[in-house]
Amino acid sequence: MSTLYDDKVVLVTGARRGLGAVIADHFEQRGARVVGFSRHANEASTSDRRFDMAVDVGDPASVGAGFEAIRKRFGKLDICINNAAVLTSQYAMILPAASAKAMVDTNLVGTFLVSREAAKLMRKGKWGRIVGVSSMAVSLEPMGDSVYAATKAAVTTLANVMAKELAATNITCNTMGVTAFATDMLGQLPRDKVDAVIASLPLARMATREDVAHVLDFFCGPGSECITAQTVYLGGVH
Ligand SMILES: NC(=O)c1ccc[n+]([C@@H]2O[C@H](COP(=O)([O-])OP(=O)(O)OC[C@H]3O[C@@H](n4cnc5c(N)ncnc54)[C@H](OP(=O)(O)O)[C@@H]3O)[C@@H](O)[C@H]2O)c1
Repeated sequence: MSTLYDDKVVLVTGARRGLGAVIADHFEQRGARVVGFSRHANEASTSDRRFDMAVDVGDPASVGAGFEAIRKRFGKLDICINNAAVLTSQYAMILPAASAKAMVDTNLVGTFLVSREAAKLMRKGKWGRIVGVSSMAVSLEPMGDSVYAATKAAVTTLANVMAKELAATNITCNTMGVTAFATDMLGQLPRDKVDAVIASLPLARMATREDVAHVLDFFCGPGSECITAQTVYLGGVH
């Protein structure tokens, strides 16, 4: 087991499944203690270095309770990966308002609420790494993804402004733009649509867990002090 993140406490939102589970495993296998926030409790979490909670990132009270638990258990937070998101892919003319609101609440407001609480805790330790998870949808602008793509573009804007606000506190804010990764979210989309999107990428393949790990280590690992307000897209998208 690597010791890259040995002394670190890492929060991963949406850690119960999909990309979030991969990200949580990455940090845990490199020595970190990992807190997972997801909508539902994570029965699969077994390790003594994993602490999973049911937290709705779009609800300020729920986020507040989650951070209170982190404060009590660890007294600090070093790294925060804002991975939780929801997607309803439907043409704007028929996208229900409730689905649009859910995407804004989770993908944007949730990222804001969690980043803000993370920064308050990180400031005490005078060190922090906040990473937002965005999507190739921002530059591909696929039909059906109007609100989803807009929320994911906003994740980058949020990180870039917070990067300036937090620069003096040694906290960096960056964004990872993910291409197609095999998860429940991707499984919602028609396979032919996914295949067409992958074929259109400069690097025409799915993203792997190693691809994701490299970007996270670049943003959060040794040598990342001067990297802030940056977005790294996988797959040649920009
Ligand atoms: N998969 C792809 O191809 C792809 C491509 C580009 C970008 N992305 C981005 O990658 C990230 C992960 O996506 P994924 O494919 O792994 O999604 P997923 O399989 O649908 O999993 C989403 C996770 O987020 C959690 N979540 C959703 N709403 C939440 C809320 N309000 N509060 C707390 N947790 C919440 C879910 O919790 P529960 O498990 O409790 O339901 C789940 O653990 C997202 O930011 C997505 O936009 C994915």
